[in-house]
Amino acid sequence: MVCIRKATVDDLLAMQECNLFCLPENYQMKYYFYHILSWPQLLYVAEDYNGKIVGYVLAKMEEESSECHGHITSLAVLRTHRKLGLATKLMIAAQNAMEQVYEAEYVSLHVRKSNRAAFNLYTETLGYKIHDVEAKYYADGEDAYDMRKQLKGKKRHHHHHHHGGGCCSGDSKTEEGTGVPEAKAE
Ligand SMILES: CC(C)(COP(=O)(O)OP(=O)(O)OC[C@H]1O[C@@H](n2cnc3c(N)ncnc32)[C@H](O)[C@@H]1OP(=O)(O)O)[C@@H](O)C(=O)NCCC(=O)NCCS
Repeated sequence: MVCIRKATVDDLLAMQECNLFCLPENYQMKYYFYHILSWPQLLYVAEDYNGKIVGYVLAKMEEESSECHGHITSLAVLRTHRKLGLATKLMIAAQNAMEQVYEAEYVSLHVRKSNRAAFNLYTETLGYKIHDVEAKYYADGEDAYDMRKQLKGKKRHHHHHHHGGGCCSGDSKTEEGTGVPEAKAE
């Protein structure tokens, strides 16, 4: 059995290790800390029955022209655990948190043109659409698809004053209770 759960600071080294096994795009540990300190609700791991981390999703919020959206920074599942639906579950967990905690309008991500497995996951299983192509996006010169999936966004359209740093601060909804128990400030 593999379980999908929210990541904690104690998972970050294993997430980084999984990333190093699976992808050429790697990040310093401080970048993982930046994510978990800024958007603790948006990092999930897949953990096997031995407590081994076999997959992760690393995500964040971005604010562009007052439109609040989520972004998938990185996603990977170890080769030994692929085609079991784990990436699908990790992605849905992050997308749900973006919607429920941050009221994200949409979620974006980049994927290599040649990455058929990921491209199929995003388009066929998860309903992402190609928004743009970014030429030579990757360090080795490969192009990226800039992909997007629409989310529910704000449910209330009347004006209310934000306190804190805008939608991406995650302040507004966490205090009202989102149905995400771990979302409370600690
Ligand atoms: C892409 C990746 C995350 C998919 O993880 P996964 O847990 O195997 O994916 P899932 O089991 O949830 O697969 C869901 C769908 O993705 C697609 N898919 C997954 N692996 C595939 C493959 N090898 N070939 C074609 N399509 C594939 C299928 O549409 C699949 O649906 P199906 O099982 O009904 O056919 C995994 O292959 C991986 O870690 N790859 C290396 C890292 C990477 O490319 N990350 C994404 C960077 S943008």
